[in-house]
Order: sequence, then C-alpha cells, then structure tokens
Amino acid sequence: MLVNLRDICAIAEQNNMAIAAFNTPSLEAVRAAIDAAEVTGYPVIIQHAECHDDITPLDVMGPAMVALAERSTAQVCVHLDHCENLSYMRRALEMGFNGAMFDGSALPYEQNVANSARAAAMCASFDCGLECELGSLGAREGDLLSDGAAATEGGSGATYTDPDQALDFVASIGLDILACSFGTVHGLYRGEPQLSFEVLDQIRDRVEVPLVMHGGSGVSDEDYRKAIDAGIRKINYYTYGVKYAGETVCDLVQARRADDPAAVVYWHDMTAAAYKRLLEDFTQVIRVFANGAEPLA
Ligand code: 13P
Repeated sequence: MLVNLRDICAIAEQNNMAIAAFNTPSLEAVRAAIDAAEVTGYPVIIQHAECHDDITPLDVMGPAMVALAERSTAQVCVHLDHCENLSYMRRALEMGFNGAMFDGSALPYEQNVANSARAAAMCASFDCGLECELGSLGAREGDLLSDGAAATEGGSGATYTDPDQALDFVASIGLDILACSFGTVHGLYRGEPQLSFEVLDQIRDRVEVPLVMHGGSGVSDEDYRKAIDAGIRKINYYTYGVKYAGETVCDLVQARRADDPAAVVYWHDMTAAAYKRLLEDFTQVIRVFANGAEPLA
C-alpha cells in the first residue's frame, strides 16, 4: 500500500528506526525492495533518481513502481531522488509518486531556498512529501568512485551541512525531511567512511524534521545504529547492493563457463540471480535499519 513520505518518516520517528530508501532503476530492484519489506514486515521507500534516467527512463519505471507499491501488503513510499528540475518533478507527481526530493545543494544558498520553496508549493498541491538537501556530498550516485577517507568537510567536493543554516533552511521552505551531509559519500568507499556525529547532533538539536542520510551504502552496522540513534530516519542505499548483485552475476557466468568457455548463459538466469542477491541484501539492510524495533506489519 502507498504511504506518503511524511507518514513513513513519522513511523520511523515513533520507532527510533530508519526507513531503507532503495534506488530501483530495474524491475529486479523494485521487486527485491518491495519483497524485502513484505518478508521483514517493515516499511520501505523505493526511489528513482533523475540521474538514473539513462538506465531506465522515469516514464517506464515510474508507473511500474507505483503499481507494484499499490498492490503490496507492505507500506511503501514511491519517491523521486535527487531531482534538480521542477518539470521532471511534476511528471513524477502526476504518475502518483508520494515523495520527492528537490536537490538544490549545488546552487548558491538563496537560490537553493527559492527553488526548494517552489518544489514545496508543487508537492503540496499533490499531497506529496518533500525532501530537500543542504550541504553537499560531492559526488553523485552513479559516480563510480568516492574516497571515503577524504569525505570530510571540503574533501571529495563534500561540504558539511551548516547546522545554523539548516534551521533557517527548514523554516524558509516548509519541507518535510532534510538531507544533510556529515561525512557519507555516494558511490564506493576507498577507505573507511568517516562520519561526523558532532555535526549530526548539532543539526538534530536545531531542526525538528526527520533527517536523511545519503551515501548510505557501505557504512558499518555500528555507524548506522549511531546515526539512527542521532535522528536519521531515512537512509539512501544503492551502490553496494548493485555491486553485490553484479558480483553474483559474474560468478554465475564464470561457473557456467568453467568447463566450457562457449557455454550459453541466458539473460533471464542473470536477472533471476541478481534479484535473489538484491532480495537477500535488502532484507538484511532493512533489519539493521529497524534498529531493534518490532516488525510493524
Ligand atoms: P550510495 O551510493 O552510498 O548507495 O548512496 C545512494 C544515495 O544516496 C542515493 O541518493
């Protein structure tokens, strides 16, 4: 069933947990995310990033995401991730997305506020929850490599969210949840992620809306728990899930061709193996993000 971004994050707040927000630019990923939610009994967010349009266009993926979410017994929010163009956002809202992120983090502050406020007005007319970003993670998801060790203020192009500015940002826009930068990065980590819980605590002390962790795959379970206890309610997860699925498919091809290098490997066997691996990973991730809360369904 469809649950609005605002409501799904309120569930997370009530239970001191975070909702897993999986980027799903393939049917295997959409199915795995929704099936993992049904298996575990926790809500889930499935999301399409504007920069993934060349993997699968919104016009193809969006209606499938909404239809599968509607008929699921799990609580599912269908969310637009990292949208920089309001016309693109309108297309998603018209398809039935009930969560959207406007990402003006690359813009000068005043322009980020102005454009985010326009996104808020649009979302309100569709009863859609809005996420906005302040501070920057540097690299975008889809960038292949991020240097975790350098993901400090100024490193990797990342800029930590300014806690005082966060207070003004939230009050000026009327957003529902805030994406903040405190040391995670999109993509693969080259070193250990270095999270600043001090920055996160300062943001939490100043703003009341639920907080979002981007660059959320590749982080240790211990850091996930610390971040959730510090107020993170939505964790975006993509890179490591598709990395594991890719490795599984490579292993499958290698195993089939071990005795006969010309052996045929069918595409449907690859997609089935990828789905199975994603389901396994997403199930485990959802359980970690539940942070000890009882299943809700
Ligand atoms: P990862 O690249 O760490 O999976 O983060 C995904 C993300 O934040 C999408 O918005």
